Amino acid sequence: MFQTSSPTIHNPLALKSYFNLISPMKKTRICLLASCLTALCGAFIIHASAADATANKLVIRADQPKATIDRNIYGFFSEHLGRCIYEGTWVGEDSTISNVRGIRQDVVAALKKLKTPVLRWPGGCFADEYHWKDGIGPREKRPAMINTHWGGVVENNHFGTHEFLDLCEQLECEPYVCGNVGSGSVQEMMEWVEYMTSDANSPMANLRRQNGRDKPWKVRYFGVGNESWGCGGNMTPEYYADQYRRYNTFVKNYADNRVYRIACGANAGDYKWTEVMMANVGNRMNGLSLHYYTIPTSNWGDKGSATQFDEGMWHGTLRRALEMQTLVSKHGAIMDKTDPQKRIGMIVDEWGIWHNVEPGTNPGFLYQQNSLRDALVAAITLNIFNQHADRVKMANIAQTINVLQAVILTDKEKMLLTPTYHVFEMFTVHHDAKLLPTELEATAYRMNQDQIPGLNVSASRDKDGKIHVTLCNLNPNTPAEVTCELKGAKAQTLKGRVLTAPTITAHNTFAQGDAVQPAEFTAFKTMESGFTATLPAKSVVVLAVE
Ligand code: AHR
Repeated sequence: MFQTSSPTIHNPLALKSYFNLISPMKKTRICLLASCLTALCGAFIIHASAADATANKLVIRADQPKATIDRNIYGFFSEHLGRCIYEGTWVGEDSTISNVRGIRQDVVAALKKLKTPVLRWPGGCFADEYHWKDGIGPREKRPAMINTHWGGVVENNHFGTHEFLDLCEQLECEPYVCGNVGSGSVQEMMEWVEYMTSDANSPMANLRRQNGRDKPWKVRYFGVGNESWGCGGNMTPEYYADQYRRYNTFVKNYADNRVYRIACGANAGDYKWTEVMMANVGNRMNGLSLHYYTIPTSNWGDKGSATQFDEGMWHGTLRRALEMQTLVSKHGAIMDKTDPQKRIGMIVDEWGIWHNVEPGTNPGFLYQQNSLRDALVAAITLNIFNQHADRVKMANIAQTINVLQAVILTDKEKMLLTPTYHVFEMFTVHHDAKLLPTELEATAYRMNQDQIPGLNVSASRDKDGKIHVTLCNLNPNTPAEVTCELKGAKAQTLKGRVLTAPTITAHNTFAQGDAVQPAEFTAFKTMESGFTATLPAKSVVVLAVE
């Protein structure tokens, strides 16, 4: 039995609390039945219980609202990588695909439906070899470059600063621009910020005006380098901390633009990186990033197929996704030592599942399919971020379109929404809502010697007082019955939606775009103390409680 937020309570207790909820007559019948069953052979009992729903107990502390869940936790990352920008976002003004100033509109409409709060660009590894002045001015005059990290293809720089900020305006989202520390100069970074945000009669602001944009943009989020421990320059934390201090000094606040400065943070469990950044940079940064990818096999050479896998891989992948909980807690505990008031945000600006590329596609383009398993990974991770809303202030799934755990896939003029897209859509209810603490006692989901919690949850209350609960049943074989006690609220009406599919490998294709999509969920009952719900096997459920 697994639980969160309270001491371990074992299976019999969960059954006991369920037992307490039912009538005395029913209790007598159940006792009789139980004695008869005990008298029968053990094999029968094991077989019978495997076919039943697992019993689980949830307490939602509606009486103890906590931090606001920053909507930026539901952010995206778009890099000049494969077909994320070119084709996925930018088709050019002359394209037959419907576009506004070169930006495709089917994708804009789909991302707007997710209430996309923030978009990170231009990388990733690409950011540390990107020279922004190559991406402004008349497109036909922009110099090309080689995208050395991603397939060695020639980048024509047709999508640059103006196009990106236009995209953000079309999406009505915050831009998050990542600057070049690895191969760029301090002056180059300083001028970029001036170009985008200054309203003065100054050289860079005037260059922007010459290029057709009079008004400065608001660019609140600025990253000082990406993965400086790796593709961003292979630096030690001490060296990067000094570089950060130097570059950041010249990232200025022009007019009323106040930059939220994001320093490059750790690669997964590199806790020393966080220690050094907190000690040597401290409050010179507003946010510290964290990158963690779920690799189904832990073998970079063969990460496994996105759509062909067995239950062992399903279990292992979800176990690895759950490691985000440990990472956020441990990095958070280090940050707490010198920042107990949690002024510095944890910015998980790259996360998601990383599979082998789809057969026959360019290995440098990181194009992968997206199945129900990806949806569970997304939902688990977003629940974890919600649970740590006091520290996690932004997260950006990698990546938005056609790359890694994308929410959208395109094939020229065709577009499909992945199961991960549907999770983001179902979770929009948590944007800027107040986190409600939860205590969960969940039956374990076992596989060989390994076990993980069978359920995963977060809950929040929105500004209208409505409570939303997002629950995942990780077990692909067994439904889960959850008895939920609501403390400090009454469940008068309940509405639900569910995302599931007949198989663990189910995914959407251009031929069948609706194989995995949300449906109405009605397997619940309200009670005096809360409600019960029976979650289908391998599912994500969102409940609205009023
Ligand atoms: O998202 C793909 C790559 O993964 C990014 O460019 C890099 O930052 C990370 O290693």
